[in-house]
Amino acid sequence: MTKSFGSDNHAGTHPAVMRAVVDANTGDAAAYGADAWTERATGEIRRLSCAQGEVFLVLNGSGANVLGLGLLLGRHEAVICAESAHINTDECGACERILGTKLLTVPAPDGKLTPELIARRLSGRGDEHCAQPGVVAITQATEVGTCYSLAELRKIRDFCAASGLRVFMDGARLANAAAHLGCTLADLAEHADVLSFGGTKNGAMCVEAVIVMRARDAVSAPFLRKQHMQLSSKMRFLAAQFIALLDDELWLRNARHANAMAARLQAGLAGLPGVEVMYPVQSDAVFARLDPRHIAELRREWTFHVWDETTSVVRWMTAFDTDESDVDAFLASIAAVAGSLPV
Ligand SMILES: Cc1ncc(COP(=O)(O)O)c(C=O)c1O
Repeated sequence: MTKSFGSDNHAGTHPAVMRAVVDANTGDAAAYGADAWTERATGEIRRLSCAQGEVFLVLNGSGANVLGLGLLLGRHEAVICAESAHINTDECGACERILGTKLLTVPAPDGKLTPELIARRLSGRGDEHCAQPGVVAITQATEVGTCYSLAELRKIRDFCAASGLRVFMDGARLANAAAHLGCTLADLAEHADVLSFGGTKNGAMCVEAVIVMRARDAVSAPFLRKQHMQLSSKMRFLAAQFIALLDDELWLRNARHANAMAARLQAGLAGLPGVEVMYPVQSDAVFARLDPRHIAELRREWTFHVWDETTSVVRWMTAFDTDESDVDAFLASIAAVAGSLPV
């Protein structure tokens, strides 16, 4: 079977993560996170992110977003986010339903918010008839595979601080952003009040961390995590996954590799007729526009998402286990298809 370019979620679990889970399967351990694995994993993430607050392990990225945003939002407050934000497009309205909040969306080129774009949604402030913007949610790396630079993050953080807004960072692909920027987890974390640090798309089976940067924001987190059904009873198996990813910086090596495979794919597309790369390739995704007939032809053999049917844009994603040979075989198919039909 050919390698999927559909999602980094299509990849299996990294063997080292699987081994760590198996190794954790010895005897009994206290439940709900009162175990040595959880202490070690959360302690290490806390250290790497320089968080003064706490770290909470959860089961999935949507849960991390709901928990993280819930820690920052007042009951009458709304979230400013990009139209393309995962919380807006792909979480079944979880934030609206579970937190009872309103998402104030902004069309954002390249998936990135800026202070100017955020400012557009502040006009109703102080008006009791309007949901009050309380939190800005950004995604790093973004849903279209771009990354905020540290300077861009700083601008957003400073603007939000000056405007009385809190910052939540959806870091389902934070590792890919760190790999792209060549920065530490702490360099990214310092620009948010609360952020998620994704394990699943980075080689874990099912674990994400919610990092709360200041202790005062963490007070209700244990209770909200439970209410949101993100408190795993056999927490040691979640923690073991992160222990494996953190060991010898496997998380960074996995992300660097996935990013390099996306860069290889992009490089191989250069000069192919009728293939237009849509965004800078800065993580593990390549978005491209091509003829719908070419898309249909390619999908006979390969798995990937059509991102936007109306504009004929597809998303090709790599993962920690994508090989150079997978990319080269895929490129050969793209080249053959691109040359086979009149453009
Ligand atoms: C940017 C981003 N955030 C959050 C999520 C949600 O993760 P999950 O599917 O584990 O709930 C995803 C999943 O694709 C994502 O791409």
